[in-house]
Amino acid sequence: MIRAVPIGIGHYLPERVVENAEFEATLDTSDEWIRARSGIERRHFAAEGETTSQMAVAAARAALEMAGLTAADVDAIVVATSTPDLTFPSAATMVQAGLGMEGGCAFDVPAGCAGFVYALANANALVVSGQARRELGIGAETFSRIMDWTDRGTCVLFGDGAGALLLEGREEAGTSADRGILATDLHSDGRYRDLLYVDGGVSSSQTTGVLRMEGREVFRHAVEKLAETAHAALEKAGLGAADVDWIVPHQANLRIITRTAQKMGVDMDRVVVTVQDHGNTSAASIPLALSVGVARGQIKPGDLLVAEAIGGGLAWGSVVMRW
Ligand code: UT7
Repeated sequence: MIRAVPIGIGHYLPERVVENAEFEATLDTSDEWIRARSGIERRHFAAEGETTSQMAVAAARAALEMAGLTAADVDAIVVATSTPDLTFPSAATMVQAGLGMEGGCAFDVPAGCAGFVYALANANALVVSGQARRELGIGAETFSRIMDWTDRGTCVLFGDGAGALLLEGREEAGTSADRGILATDLHSDGRYRDLLYVDGGVSSSQTTGVLRMEGREVFRHAVEKLAETAHAALEKAGLGAADVDWIVPHQANLRIITRTAQKMGVDMDRVVVTVQDHGNTSAASIPLALSVGVARGQIKPGDLLVAEAIGGGLAWGSVVMRW
């Protein structure tokens, strides 16, 4: 059977690094509180005028370079983002133009912090159905543009960045030993809209809005739902937690990451953690962690990975993939 196999990974982080202590000048907060409650130490913020699609193009170029390919070899782009450059067209079509691609298809998946697992499920479907052979699954966000800088409960948590995964359809045996995406598991429940949302939009306020979050409640749902979806995806793949080489979690909070690993029975030395350096980059966090995990030499060919994420919607899910 055809599997969507990872053949390249890359990321981009804006130049400006903001340490926790910088917030102490304008907010009633401290480096100690941010580290202790979230595990975050610093984050990157996009420069003035730097856009989501520009960051996505840089990440995509790095992924293509790793595979020794060019944009002409790609026939689909899926960008997970809730912070596109414009209301439309999609950031993905801007990435397509930015890479100099003239064919194929490109579209966005706005599923908040769960965006990258949703994008990979879509990317997998395009490959398995024969619509695309090589495609870029990208997560890219400029959450610094939708912060309320007076709300200490949110603005210290988020950061900007982009990560890109290049996938290729390859004939594999159809077993759990195959390389590539082995299973996906997606969920959402719109009744929880008010726990995490942006308070503006085209058809409501005609403004961009800022992010609002009931942190404690989102935390509770995350701890409950992430291990559950990861187990479900592993089961669909005919595998279990003991087979996992690396959990590549959404990087929102080190305490959520740790508790999810504990619930799954996976040691923290098998979890890729980047939250201390990136903060919560929403849909960009998993591809950023994948890219850093590969660069650090943690993730190696043949390793079994589980990526899991939850965010606004609520929407959540997971992907099981053999590297
Ligand atoms: O990526 C999408 C999914 N999002 C998440 O997964 C985020 C999930 N939530 C979280 O990560 C955590 O809930 C937070 C990091 C947002 C907050 O941690 P917490 O342990 O849940 O703290 P809390 O919201 O219960 O607040 C505890 C106290 C409060 O003060 P009182 O009411 O106890 O006096 C807050 O006002 O901490 C206060 N607080 C702060 N103090 C210093 C909230 N933000 C800050 C801050 N600095 N930045």
